Amino acid sequence: AQAGTSRFRPAIHFTARDTWLNDPNGLVFYDGLYHLFFQNNPYGNVWGNMSWGHATSRDLLHWTEHPVAIACDETEDIFSGSVVVDHGNTSGFGTADAPALVAIYTSAYKAASEHSGTQAQSLAYSTDAGMTWRKYEGNPVLTRNSANFRDPKVFRYQGAYGACWVMVAVEAQHQKVVFYRSDDLKSWEFLSDFGPANADAGEWECPDLFPLAVDGDPGNIKWVLIVNVNPGAVAGGSGGQYFIGHFDGARFLPDEGSVAAPAGVSALGDSVAAAAALQECLWLDWGRDCYASVSFSNVPDGRRIIIGWMNNWDYANELPTAPWRSSMTLAREVHLTAVNGSARLVQQPVLADLCAGGQLPTAQDQMNAGTFELRNSAHQLPDAVPGSAQIIEAEILPGSTERVDFRLFRSSDGSKGTILSYNTTSAQLILDRRQSGNTGFHGKFASVESAPVDLENGVLKLLIVVDHCSVEVFAQGGKVVLTDLIFPETENPENWLSAEGGSATILKLTVSTLT
Ligand code: FRU
Repeated sequence: AQAGTSRFRPAIHFTARDTWLNDPNGLVFYDGLYHLFFQNNPYGNVWGNMSWGHATSRDLLHWTEHPVAIACDETEDIFSGSVVVDHGNTSGFGTADAPALVAIYTSAYKAASEHSGTQAQSLAYSTDAGMTWRKYEGNPVLTRNSANFRDPKVFRYQGAYGACWVMVAVEAQHQKVVFYRSDDLKSWEFLSDFGPANADAGEWECPDLFPLAVDGDPGNIKWVLIVNVNPGAVAGGSGGQYFIGHFDGARFLPDEGSVAAPAGVSALGDSVAAAAALQECLWLDWGRDCYASVSFSNVPDGRRIIIGWMNNWDYANELPTAPWRSSMTLAREVHLTAVNGSARLVQQPVLADLCAGGQLPTAQDQMNAGTFELRNSAHQLPDAVPGSAQIIEAEILPGSTERVDFRLFRSSDGSKGTILSYNTTSAQLILDRRQSGNTGFHGKFASVESAPVDLENGVLKLLIVVDHCSVEVFAQGGKVVLTDLIFPETENPENWLSAEGGSATILKLTVSTLT
């Protein structure tokens, strides 16, 4: 193990014990357990030998890792995909009483395969509640003889004339989402495609499509199409965008205003026009480290919960940890809400509220402050507790200040730390990790991210989750999310809140730890 990196292992985010991981795969809730399969190299801590690792959780915070679920072999790597519960036994892999769990994954064929050079969709199934998996002998079930056809997400679609399975996948290099339908998960029929649109400079990967009621109104259902892009995301490198629209069982029709930038604008690279166009797209996360977000299937009560890979392909293979490398974001429950007349996603981290019936995490209050003023002054917050994550909730009236800053993992002389600022003039949240600690392992790691934020009645609302190597910021009830990795090196780090250039009113400030 690399000396000293065990302290970076997160308290409430999933990492593999001693190997590499990337995308979350096959997210499914079944029989009281959340299953997280994931892109995994069972033999090392850089990308390669892609297989599906496996972990389960009851509360989405604490995970148990299991043996590799679907392993690569000499003919194929097992790329990203999804899992469905085949309740009607449409595939015949289970029985009507004991439905099979069916994985739809991408076979990335190797030279030894007769399908060499192509990516196609294949099935594996489990009849023991997801613990062991068998590949279907009829694989692949869907090929386009394409080198970049991957990342199938399958869901049950209930149409006016009956139900069927729908697959969304990508032609990655053509920036296209492709839609297929099936009755039995084995034979698939092409429906339509969507794209390129909006952020289309890089490859399109890991799509998802699901309906949600806007502000809980069952009469106002919108469909959310998630498209992950690499590179070309708003903070650089890989990231997730989404479109809002309607799915009619065959086609995705984006709402007016959902397709912001004319196709191709983002391909202009770093130009000012391209950067402005990217700001107009809808981003799941404005930080550097949230990619390949997809949602769970089969969650009760119509809840929609997503998890992303907390990393960026710009530097993923070089993160300074060992023997494990990289982690997932927190699980985030998503809703739609109307913002200036348009439906927009909001995300809330799943912390304590979903834990009924599961093992309850122990949240401990560290601080609960009422209203106070900060005027060109700083207020010290409780220190991080080794082994725990910290959750900071704040409601702030920035008033006449120029900026309000949270300094996390700050050195006592103030020279080091991660700075989360609200800048009153630009109305932006800015996450600056240039002095966060170890940034030197890759030239693209030291960075500053920003996101536009609309205050409500002048109030800035923040929920900040700080784990041992990450900061996740949920602003304005989750309308704006920023996720960044950090690798702090300061010995006795402090946390501070300050206001500069005027007076800010702190309406609410709580800090708690979660183990
Ligand atoms: C996204 C991705 C997917 C692919 C997988 C391979 O991060 O490139 O498109 O299926 O990773 O590990």
